[in-house]
This record gives sequence, structure tokens and C-alpha cells, in this order.
Amino acid sequence: MDRLTRLMHQHHGHCDEVFAAAEAAARSADWPSCADSFARFRADLLGHLDVEEGRIFPAFERQTGNAGGPTRVMRSEHDEMRELLSWLDDALAARDADAFGDATETLLILMQQHNMKEENILYPMCDQVLGGDAAAFGALMGEVEQALAEVSHG
Ligand SMILES: [Fe+2]
Repeated sequence: MDRLTRLMHQHHGHCDEVFAAAEAAARSADWPSCADSFARFRADLLGHLDVEEGRIFPAFERQTGNAGGPTRVMRSEHDEMRELLSWLDDALAARDADAFGDATETLLILMQQHNMKEENILYPMCDQVLGGDAAAFGALMGEVEQALAEVSHG
């Protein structure tokens, strides 16, 4: 696995773990713990989407001259995820376990399908088209690593 694919794949795994913790807490009606995990998940996920939309996708689009292809589809799926986060906010505020469970299930399926497309198709394409310019790619990876680290610890 190449550098960008490996890093983003790992961060997907990290987001999945925090998401599972929020889901488990909601199932056992432990709302304070659910609120805690969900706040971390929200920050991790939004940070992940921002890094992709703000740094990785623009670099890919510049290099390939294609802003209407795979990155456009990924951006629209990101918008669906943001929408589901707001459903989860509402369910959490209302301590509505059924609504929270429905929204997590929908988000889980969406994330699984989306992440698989990124991990199997888009990230490897990014490694391939961006990796040729070692200096620019190194700078991009540095920015991505720093941005993800700030999200997870901040
Ligand atoms: Fe994405």
C-alpha cells in the first residue's frame, strides 16, 4: 500500500473505532459516554472530510485536470455524511435510542461503501498521479499528517 493510501486507510480505521464506541454507548443508553464518543467521532470525521476536500482532492484535480469525476462523487457522499451527523445530533439531544440507532446504521453503510471506494480506487489513484513529483507529494503528505494529528489530539 502506498503512502497516502496507507495513512488515510489507518485514519478510516480510527474513525470506525470511535464510531463503534458511540454506537455501543447509545445501545446501553449510556448517554454521557455516547455524547463523549460522538463528539470525538464528529471531530475526527469532519477533520477527515476537510483534509480530503481541502488538500487531497484539489491536488488530484489539479494534476489530472478532472474535477468532475471521482472526487465529485466523493464530495457529494461527504455531504450526505454531514447531513447524517446532524440527524445524530438531534437523536442524541433527544436521547432517542431508536433514532440514534437508525442514523448510525445508515451512516455505517454509507461510510463502508464510501471508504471502500476511496481505499480501493481513489487513494491508490492519488498515490499514482501525485507520487511522481516527490517534493510536492512529500509536502502534501506532511500537511495531511499534521492536519489529521491536530484533529485527533485537539
Ligand atoms: Fe471521503
